[in-house]
Amino acid sequence: SAPRALARRLVVDVHTHLYPEAYVELLKSRTEIPYIRRFPPSNQLCLCNRPPQNSNSSSTSTTSKTPPGRILHPHYYDISEKIAFMDHHKIDISVISLGNPWLDFLPSDTAGATAKDINDATNTICNQHPTRLFFFGALPLSAPEPTILAEITRLKTTTQARGIVMGTSSLGSGLDDPALLPIFAALAASDMPIFLHPNYGLPGPVWGPRGSDYGQVLPLSLGFPMETTIAVTRLFLSGAFDAVPGLQIIVAHSGGCLPFLAGRVEACIEHDGKWERDGKLVPERKTLWDALRRNIYLDGVIFDKVGLRTAIEAAGVDRVMFGTDHPFFAPLDGGKTFPAMTVNRDAVKGVFPGDEEEGYDLVMGGNASHVFILSVFRQTGPKMF
Ligand code: URA
Ligand code: ZN
Repeated sequence: SAPRALARRLVVDVHTHLYPEAYVELLKSRTEIPYIRRFPPSNQLCLCNRPPQNSNSSSTSTTSKTPPGRILHPHYYDISEKIAFMDHHKIDISVISLGNPWLDFLPSDTAGATAKDINDATNTICNQHPTRLFFFGALPLSAPEPTILAEITRLKTTTQARGIVMGTSSLGSGLDDPALLPIFAALAASDMPIFLHPNYGLPGPVWGPRGSDYGQVLPLSLGFPMETTIAVTRLFLSGAFDAVPGLQIIVAHSGGCLPFLAGRVEACIEHDGKWERDGKLVPERKTLWDALRRNIYLDGVIFDKVGLRTAIEAAGVDRVMFGTDHPFFAPLDGGKTFPAMTVNRDAVKGVFPGDEEEGYDLVMGGNASHVFILSVFRQTGPKMF
């Protein structure tokens, strides 16, 4: 149909962050990580959003010449920078998400009101460009369950929310926590996928005493994706996809190692005496491969065609969606063109090298347009699949 053909040509970025000003103010008021503060003698505000991963890291010192964290460039909070980035890189639509660590650190009694403020502010920001900006809402996961459920219901009434963003700690105990099931059920019933994103990495000692010699490379390239891989595997092993078959989860960084390791996870299940004794090795068992094809979407933020091809083979060409991770991975020279856009786009091109390849359009925007019912087609009828 015509809408489908049009939608396929769109470029949609499903992994792109914004810290709205209300969130920046919240971090400025804090004295523990996550926080935003100055580190004299520098006068620049720095965003410290996650604990330093390396025990000997210079970022543990507050008097170092290199301020810890990241300089709070306006592209972290100013939506006009996001739009300029989209225009420069020919991105039609962005589904923005609050950056890590979201609302994970809030006390239980204020989380609900803060979530409402931040989500409403984000919806208002998106409504400045209502055909180009949508968002994943942040849930008050430290609040009591009725507060979390109420925010899901409320998000559904906003014009621009298309799902929610969640970290791997979720309610505090990870994604295999049975207390999450009512939340998963509410999200599935409201057609709200979860965008799952890492923040916490792996325990610092795994990087060894020389970890900080390599800057952020080990925790960012390996710690982040391993955190996500472990989280999704625990989610799968818990049976959550059986309990809530409609649960949909978009896994950051092409699912980490999940596409590569799914076969090994399956082999370990099939050879596990406990699984057999528990009567769980039945022929109709939903496998991790089944979950990858029915419940899991993978973003395309993997920076090479080898990883991207594996993601597409594991989840299917209709379940991988382009992303940039803007404003992280900004060019070191301050330039306008982000390799995080061009390298990830070239990876898609590398997997689909032909001129008329449908797969390229699906990954670059067609899939996201359908899954999130983006732009004008939202009003035209029910979901196409
Ligand atoms: N570093 C972060 O803290 N978050 C991202 O999304 C990417 C890099
Ligand atoms: Zn990200």
